[in-house]
Amino acid sequence: MTLFDVGELDDYVHGEARQVRVGARVLVMVRIDDSVYVLDDRCSHEDFSLAEGEVNVETCEIECARHGAMFSLKDGEPMSFPATRAVAHYEVEMKDGRLKVMVP
Ligand code: FES
Repeated sequence: MTLFDVGELDDYVHGEARQVRVGARVLVMVRIDDSVYVLDDRCSHEDFSLAEGEVNVETCEIECARHGAMFSLKDGEPMSFPATRAVAHYEVEMKDGRLKVMVP
């Protein structure tokens, strides 16, 4: 596991998805209130960036902009078709005011 610094909480806008590169990975980060969620930035249905999609802050889900599958930001599980497989998700921790993402 490697910890990557991905900035401060205030670098992220509530309810907006943002693509972030750490090492060789491309992630999508979403802030909802004071929590930040991180998934692989690739829909499990087809190869498409989830960072292009809309965030539902009420249900804590992100919609793939290509065919409309919804994914839980909490664990990457697909919540609707056409996606049937989860997207990898990563833990975020706050250390000395900085957000750190743990990736394998
Ligand atoms: S590519 Fe995401 S739902 Fe089809």
